[in-house]
Amino acid sequence: MADTIKIGIDFGTTNSSVALARPDGAVELVHFPTATTPTESFRSVLYLEQSKSGIASFTGPSAIQQYLEAEHPGRLIQSLKSYLPSRSLTGTEVFGRRYTLEDLISRILTDLRLRTEQTLATPLTPETPITVGRPVRFVSAETEEDDAYATERLRSAFTQAGYPDVAFELEPIAAAYAYEATLDHDELILIGDFGGGTSDFSLLHVGPSYASQPSREILGNSGLGLAGDAFDARIVRKLVSPALGADTLEKTYANPFAAPMPKRFPGRAAVLPPQRELKIIPAVPAWIYANLERWHYLSFLKTRNVTEILRAARARAEEPEKVEALIALIEEDLGYQLHQAVQRLKIDLSRAETATFRFPELDPAGQLSKEVTRADFEQWIAADLESIENCVDGLLATTNTTKEKVDRVFLTGGTSFVPAVRRIFETRFSPARVVTGNEFTSVARGLALRST
Ligand SMILES: Nc1ncnc2c1ncn2[C@@H]1O[C@H](COP(=O)(O)OP(=O)(O)OP(=O)(O)O)[C@@H](O)[C@H]1O
Ligand SMILES: [Mg+2]
Repeated sequence: MADTIKIGIDFGTTNSSVALARPDGAVELVHFPTATTPTESFRSVLYLEQSKSGIASFTGPSAIQQYLEAEHPGRLIQSLKSYLPSRSLTGTEVFGRRYTLEDLISRILTDLRLRTEQTLATPLTPETPITVGRPVRFVSAETEEDDAYATERLRSAFTQAGYPDVAFELEPIAAAYAYEATLDHDELILIGDFGGGTSDFSLLHVGPSYASQPSREILGNSGLGLAGDAFDARIVRKLVSPALGADTLEKTYANPFAAPMPKRFPGRAAVLPPQRELKIIPAVPAWIYANLERWHYLSFLKTRNVTEILRAARARAEEPEKVEALIALIEEDLGYQLHQAVQRLKIDLSRAETATFRFPELDPAGQLSKEVTRADFEQWIAADLESIENCVDGLLATTNTTKEKVDRVFLTGGTSFVPAVRRIFETRFSPARVVTGNEFTSVARGLALRST
């Protein structure tokens, strides 16, 4: 169908984009309206709120806007893609109505379809070639069955959203197609796609003499369910949680036989009989902070039980002001704003050697503000970087590829902006062999080019 426009849809954990490949090979991105300038990358979020006429739903930029403007905010739901392989997560109840995961995802996909049809000025038909991206490995998919289960769920969400049949292609392969479109010679490339939830790697030949082949040999691919979201969680663990009392201890000894005494009274500790050991007890239980690391779980902490635990902890804590800030964070339901503050710091550190963490919604006076160096951040994510390195080296080893054989490394996805991630490739393959570009749209572009 030489005269048909081909569609590529990248439904990402954090951002989604849609590309249209014209019959002459030109690729154009669908633009989505926002309160300011239109965007090519549509936040993969859904917001549900109760209205007089039932439950109202919003997606993408308007979901965030509605959520932030609401006096009594409803449910903002993000990272839906990462739940696809989870058999235990079939859905959720919101305002007394049960939604399956597919219902929620299809609500976002419907808006992507409507905007695409508006751009095309015609509805999608069964003749429209549509290719949808999928990661090499879905986050938390442990087996091939989990992976197949996730793909089928994604397929049914597309069907439910009114799409005709869609084909799937691996996201890094799509990125390879986008890169290939810029080449005038053949290369062996390693594609690294670093998104919000997943990091994927693929090794393949690209270039004019491969482009015309009907099927393409992929030398190998590997991936892991760890990317930008995991880096955000590290920032919360190392920086935010301690500022909100994670390391704060109880003022008194927990030993029931010991008389309560201030810990700051060192002279008295010596007179304790040896069996009355000093127990160092955190004022706030650790599981509360685990919920901060996935910001969308924060609203689950807004219960009477947690409030009671925290009020009691505040009374016992050595640094009650930190626990007080945690109580305010939960009561004011600032999970989204916390996540934004964390991402701002991470993004600033991609550009500069030092940056300041600020969280004005919780802390207008700036008492929690903290200067962070890129070196600090790199230390916090060191274990994640190592997992990424092992995954890359594993792919080279299993495909018997020496580093010298790789002509080019093409990095894409928002997390590829992180200097330490780029460095993994620059040290292995030399900076000159590492190329980047269209970090947020290359997958959708390649999917559109790949559609048949
Ligand atoms: N300048 C930057 N520096 C560091 N991280 C960034 C930058 N810009 C965006 N990110 C991160 O990139 C991630 C989103 O990237 P992207 O849009 O490629 O993911 P996605 O396609 O939605 O996810 P996935 O491919 O895992 O499904 C987020 O974690 C975001 O914080
Ligand atoms: Mg992606």
